Amino acid sequence: MKITLSVIKADIGGYVGHSSVHPRLIETAERMLSQAQEKGEIIDFFVTRVGDDLQLILTHTNGLENERIHKLAWDVFEAATEVAKELKLYGAGQDLLADAFSGNIKGLGPGVAEIEFEERRSDPVVIFMADKTSPGAWNLPLFKIFADPFNTAGLVIDPKMHPGFVFEVLDVHTGKMARISTPEEMYDLLTLIGSVEDYIIKNVYRKDGEIAATASVEKLNLIAGEYVGKDDPVLIVRCQSGFPALGEVLEPFAFPHLVAGWMRGSHFGPLMPVPFHHANPTRFDGPPRVIAAGFQIAEGKLIGPRDLFDDPAFDEARHLANVISEYMRRMGPFEPHRVGPDKLEYTTMPQVLEKLKDRFQ
Ligand code: F6R
Ligand code: MG
Ligand code: MG
Repeated sequence: MKITLSVIKADIGGYVGHSSVHPRLIETAERMLSQAQEKGEIIDFFVTRVGDDLQLILTHTNGLENERIHKLAWDVFEAATEVAKELKLYGAGQDLLADAFSGNIKGLGPGVAEIEFEERRSDPVVIFMADKTSPGAWNLPLFKIFADPFNTAGLVIDPKMHPGFVFEVLDVHTGKMARISTPEEMYDLLTLIGSVEDYIIKNVYRKDGEIAATASVEKLNLIAGEYVGKDDPVLIVRCQSGFPALGEVLEPFAFPHLVAGWMRGSHFGPLMPVPFHHANPTRFDGPPRVIAAGFQIAEGKLIGPRDLFDDPAFDEARHLANVISEYMRRMGPFEPHRVGPDKLEYTTMPQVLEKLKDRFQ
């Protein structure tokens, strides 16, 4: 049976400030999705949150970019926005950039990652969800998972993975995609994806064409033309039996790499892997967080989640992220803690610079 796994997310109101999601928004989403499930519109669902982002994880058989599924997610976000407005939560409806739904939720504000696949005898997947950062945050871990033999032993040992993987990279400014094959073109890939705000990995395929991973790549500032919060991306990765093992998929997050986002979307900081209950970024609105929800898919049912970073083996990564945060914070408003001027273009900074322009004689 071909199953579609859709992860659709939006920040539609923070509790308190931009730190978390109020339980009533989650209850609203669960109520509506369980009605949709009873009507047979979806097979299964799981609602969660990371920081101030509400995450809808859905399974169905309608394929990618299905209008009915996208409309369902939009309706959930609209209903939850009403609750957010009633509670006067912060930034109620923030990511719903359009006044009404029109065909496809992509480009309307929410982030989307979807894969369609023939369910295997056993099908483990990991859904990563991040807050206070942008989609380029996945570039480094995706490279390590699918192209770095020092991370993924299967690239060397497993005959199914040994041929390597194909990366689909999006140029965020032109909207065009390039397909780059590893290991042959590894250096070309790194030339692009090292620029995390300009080139973003959208999909990864096995050489036999099987989808291995997909990320949400929506850039809110490019959609809205102004700063409306960070994109706070999601990522789906398939595991085991010819894909990287669960532990190979999680391994890059043992290193809290620096990502753009954090306070006002304008600061570099470490991406801290946390259990679900610690996904409430409060220090300087951060540091950026990532959670990992593991599921076994069984006839489209979501068996899970397992809270995969709820493991003391990631304590050192969290500790290091705190040490790095402390170090970076002492830089205050100076680069490279603060992002460079081209990336500040979509913040409120240009308004401040405008005021100063006559001072230069
Ligand atoms: C980052 C983020 C927050 C806000 C900050 C200021 O993605 O959402 O760091 O940028 O809390 O928010 P406002 O300007 O709404 O007071
Ligand atoms: Mg917010
Ligand atoms: Mg957020």
